[in-house]
Amino acid sequence: MMDTNPGLREVDVSVSINGTQVSHRVPARLLLSDFIRDVVGLTGTHVGCEHGYCGACTVIVDGDAIRSCSTLAAQIDGSAIRTVEDLATDGELTPMQQAFHENHAMQCGFCTAGFLMTLESVDPDGYQEKEQVIDLLSGNLCRCTGYHNIFNAVCSTWGVDS
Ligand code: FES
Ligand code: FES
Repeated sequence: MMDTNPGLREVDVSVSINGTQVSHRVPARLLLSDFIRDVVGLTGTHVGCEHGYCGACTVIVDGDAIRSCSTLAAQIDGSAIRTVEDLATDGELTPMQQAFHENHAMQCGFCTAGFLMTLESVDPDGYQEKEQVIDLLSGNLCRCTGYHNIFNAVCSTWGVDS
């Protein structure tokens, strides 16, 4: 018989998330952002626009930054995911997190995890000009800070003349 609503099907998704292997049976249409937050319980990844626009939901999958709100959990079966919870070790912030703190690079903080994961996904050697940093940051939206302090945090961490 024809499957008239494949979105109602369930699929098995097995991934490594922040170094821990997890396996869950989930609806085929479950978004990766909902998988991370609601199924795995890691709520540091935020969901803003849910249209692939704001970048708040950015996580790293197999080394690349992706929008988890516009990716299905089923699509990344077998992959390795990193979320913002993977950055600090035993409470010790990464240099970029520390720079965000010192530069007051957040207000409400809703966008912060997305910015941090975007920054974590790239090689700083490719972003040594301030225009390159601005271009990189333009993929994530912040409604509070005006970006200036975020830009300063990145430049101070990567040794870019601002
Ligand atoms: S919540 Fe995913 S891009 Fe805005
Ligand atoms: S700090 Fe509020 S959206 Fe960026």
